[in-house]
Amino acid sequence: EDYGSSILGRLSDLFRKAIKEAFPSLDVALLMAETSNPTFGDYQCNSAMPIAAKLKATGVSKRPGDVAKEIFAKIPSNTEFLEKVEVMPAGFINIFLKKDYIKKQIWSIAKKGLELPKISKRRVLVDFSSPNIAKEMHVGHLRSTIIGDSICRLLEAVGFDVLRVNHIGDWGTQFGMLIAHLYDRYPDFETKLPEISDLQAFYKESKKRFDEDEVFKKRAYECVVKLQSYEPNFVKAWETICDVSKKYNQYVYDRLDIKIEDFGESFYQDKMLNLVDSIKKTHPGVLREDEGRQIMFPTGCEVPLTVVKSDGGFTYDTSDLAALNYRINQLKVDWAIYVVDAGQSLHLETVYAAGRDFGWYDESVKRVEHVAFGLVLGEDRKKFKTRSGETVRLLDLLDEGVKRAEKSLQEKGRHEVMNKEELEAARDAVAYGCIKYADLSHTRTQDYVFSFDRMLDDRGNTAVYLLYAYARIRSIVRTSGVSEAELSDYLNKTSVLPLDHPAEMNLAKQILKLSDCVLQVLDSLMLHPLCDFVYQLATQFHDFYNECYVIDKRGDKTEIHFHRLALCDVTANTMATCFKILGIREVSKM
Ligand code: ARG
Repeated sequence: EDYGSSILGRLSDLFRKAIKEAFPSLDVALLMAETSNPTFGDYQCNSAMPIAAKLKATGVSKRPGDVAKEIFAKIPSNTEFLEKVEVMPAGFINIFLKKDYIKKQIWSIAKKGLELPKISKRRVLVDFSSPNIAKEMHVGHLRSTIIGDSICRLLEAVGFDVLRVNHIGDWGTQFGMLIAHLYDRYPDFETKLPEISDLQAFYKESKKRFDEDEVFKKRAYECVVKLQSYEPNFVKAWETICDVSKKYNQYVYDRLDIKIEDFGESFYQDKMLNLVDSIKKTHPGVLREDEGRQIMFPTGCEVPLTVVKSDGGFTYDTSDLAALNYRINQLKVDWAIYVVDAGQSLHLETVYAAGRDFGWYDESVKRVEHVAFGLVLGEDRKKFKTRSGETVRLLDLLDEGVKRAEKSLQEKGRHEVMNKEELEAARDAVAYGCIKYADLSHTRTQDYVFSFDRMLDDRGNTAVYLLYAYARIRSIVRTSGVSEAELSDYLNKTSVLPLDHPAEMNLAKQILKLSDCVLQVLDSLMLHPLCDFVYQLATQFHDFYNECYVIDKRGDKTEIHFHRLALCDVTANTMATCFKILGIREVSKM
């Protein structure tokens, strides 16, 4: 692996080696952290305490301070990035970075561009968004869509081969009533795609008839049978309903710049038949009879999977088993990520356990994981609903965001300084950026409160704040009068950026933390640290800009600080890199 400009990665390698040399027989995880107080250095190694505890358990008594000294003794004194390393009596090891190293790194980024860590090419599948046909996408699916897309963007940025998969709910007995209703309401559906503007209402209508009308109910069942035996007219009707639904979803995806491919539950129909047959052969006795159903209890699970229903049909469990099998054994993915609400955790964990029981994958080689997220709540902290208690249509929500973004730009008088195209670009970037950022900046596993007022507040940790900050930096460089050629000329003539003001140095150190942050996010698949990173970056830029002249005008004399312009550029590029991962459109004028 190539850690890119990761400082923590390099430091960790160094300290891991030192610990191994000092205490060859001990196996302890390295504890390395950023310090919050600069008097204790930039980073701190806190491994001496757990090592002392481990030694004690083996009968060797050593104080943490002495353990730290032994580690310290194995740290080479001539690295290019360590200024000094100091041991505290309590066992903390304080690490100070060399200023020259930072100056050089920043110069290199200014000259050659930012390098993210590169992970050797591996195949990863991300199952996200995954709405159900006919029932419209709701805010829960919006969360999955936003988080899943951002995870994909991150993985792509570090070199993974990413499969973006939409596991849509496009099969099941509910299609019986939908098809029967389609025949009644849109008899000419075979020749033209019906204009069903509100699929939710269509679903409700057919459900009502199904519940109240025995004749209709019987017809609905017949439709299911005919669909399952692939009678062409019924397949056509099913396709029609799916197409209407997918068309709607596609609007949402297009507006949010989301790319995703459909491999819905229907894709696994024939695969489920084969799978159940082969399970019965290879693992006889695993499927148990239970009131006509065939169920299984994977190792360590208390709730069974229903693999075959009493009428012989398959379930959500079966399709997820088939999907897992296909992903691992056919697509040969190294890593499978399921971005699904936390409510489905038990279901997914049970499916994964079954996969391991069947020997499909070994946890030490492949990563198969549920990336869970909490609910979206309204400002009343109850489940997010419209005023009349309906589920919120995503397109309406996006429209509302656009409207509010426009209003907030108007209020700032932006329409006076920007032309129509610029204004529209800014409006959409703000609207969609805010919705995405509000989601991503919250701890994924917790519920989060959806509030336009908060997400459009330009003073807080929001996309608007960041977009303004970004546009401002771009404009500083643009209006400096220094051309790109002049700036690159300057960079060619030197090999370090002078960063002698503390605010410059702070900003530079923050920029260099991006790679570490990216590695951290890759591990936890929590995006909020990246949001914190870019917010912090914007704040530090602000401090830097307040304290340091980029362009110095005194009387009729103008001095341009080229290295500071370069630092502005690097900051903006670093922000742009984060925006790209977070799925936020950058606009250079706001
Ligand atoms: N369609 C499901 C739902 O809306 C989510 C599917 C998630 N992916 C999966 N492989 N189960 O709840």
